[in-house]
Order: sequence, then C-alpha cells, then structure tokens
Amino acid sequence: MNMTTKDNAQPRREIRSFVLREGRITPGQKRALQRLWPRFGLEPGRRIDPAAIFGRQAPLTLEIGFGNGESLASMAAREPATDFIGIEVHRPGVGHLLQELDKQALDNVRIINEDAVKVLRDSLPACSLDRLLLFFPDPWHKKRHHKRRIVQPDFIALVASRLKPGGILHMATDWEDYAEHMLDVMSRSEGFLNCATSGAYSVKPDYRPVTKFERRGRKLGHGVRDLVFEKK
Ligand SMILES: C[S@@+](CC[C@H](N)C(=O)[O-])C[C@H]1O[C@@H](n2cnc3c(N)ncnc32)[C@H](O)[C@@H]1O
Repeated sequence: MNMTTKDNAQPRREIRSFVLREGRITPGQKRALQRLWPRFGLEPGRRIDPAAIFGRQAPLTLEIGFGNGESLASMAAREPATDFIGIEVHRPGVGHLLQELDKQALDNVRIINEDAVKVLRDSLPACSLDRLLLFFPDPWHKKRHHKRRIVQPDFIALVASRLKPGGILHMATDWEDYAEHMLDVMSRSEGFLNCATSGAYSVKPDYRPVTKFERRGRKLGHGVRDLVFEKK
C-alpha cells in the first residue's frame, strides 16, 4: 500500500477511511486517557505480541473502529476467556472505552489509537487473529467518496493475511449500498468462505451487541446487514 506516483516516485498520500475530528472530550475521558492509557494502551508502530501483552494464550479478537467502545466492552465482559484488541482513531471514543474497562474491571482488552490499516500492515503478525470485527464502518455515502470506504480488495487481502485459517471476518452495516459493495468485494477475494450461502447475508450472531451507530441507523429506518466469512 506504499503507493508512488509514476513520474517522480514520490510517496502518494494514502487514502484514509476517516476524517480526524477531535470532537468534544469530556473531563472524565481526559482523566481516563491520562490515568488508564498506560494500563490498556498499546503504542502504535510496535510489533504486537498477543501472548506477551495479555500474559496468556487465548483466542484473539480485533475490533476496528469501535466508536465509543460500548459494544467492545460488552463482548469482553461476556467472553472473559477471549482477548480483545480495539483500534479507534477518535480519542474521545478511546477515553470512553477506558472508563468502561475501569468501571467493569476488564483486563482482556487493549486499545490502539491509530489507523487500523497501519496497525494491520505494520504491527500485527500474520495468522494471529481468530476474529476480526468491523461494525458499521463509515459508509462514505457519496459516490465520489466510495474510494474512502475501508472495505476494498487490498484491505480484505491484508485482513486475510492476519487471520488464522478458520478465523472469522464479521462486518455489519446499516447502509444497503455499502453492504452490496462488501459482498461484491468478498465475492472477488480469494481465501474466504461465506458462512451464509454464497452471495447472502448472515443472521446476526448472538455475540454481536447492538452498537451506538446501529441504534442511530435503526431510528432512521435503515435495515442492518451482517456479513460473516471464514478464512480458508
Ligand atoms: C460509523 S462509526 C461506528 C462506530 C462503532 N463501530 C458503532 O457501531 O457504534 C465508524 C468508526 O470507525 C472509526 N474509523 C474509521 N476508519 C478507521 C481506521 N482506518 N482506523 C481506526 N478507526 C477507524 C471512526 O473513527 C468511527 O469511530
């Protein structure tokens, strides 16, 4: 993904799937970032060694774009035998999740505040994930912005390389056009089996909590689609 222009071989700015807005950060989130980051935070750019980080061998789930972390904390509480890494670029969301981890005394979650594409590419070992979750990624509604959608063939190839054989890629969206785009990209990607029948959406697995963005989408009358694929 280190693209260069043809004429002068200068690195081209990568297309990002997010716009970084600091937004409003509450005093509680600020305090959580100061006090709890050393305990739950992983510094970007360093190689991730899950067994060393969590001090045990356990199935590993990665959630990309956890938002305010509500659903990640809830999954981690329900699955204490699984380790979770959450990636989010939005700092108020990171602060919110830190508060939740502290409140619920959860020790099976670590957080990275960085672009998930960089983390997958530079820090996460091959075949290290049992499950990768991508719930309600930014849909980038306008056609001219579709290139900013995180689900693209290159991204899915990167995900495939980081999942263990038999590992699960689970995506969900409330934007029909993005769901169709996801199915299209997956149908052209090698190395995955659709856990529903080919070309179909899945029934929502029980482990997926209803997320904040999902609630917002449902209020607007959007249907929600889950896509669950197994790495061959
Ligand atoms: C529409 S929100 C959904 C949040 C949450 N999953 C939910 O369902 O409530 C998408 C989130 O993905 C984050 N995001 C987008 N691209 C990202 C990337 N490349 N790396 C990390 N986070 C990203 C955004 O900051 C945003 O919080």
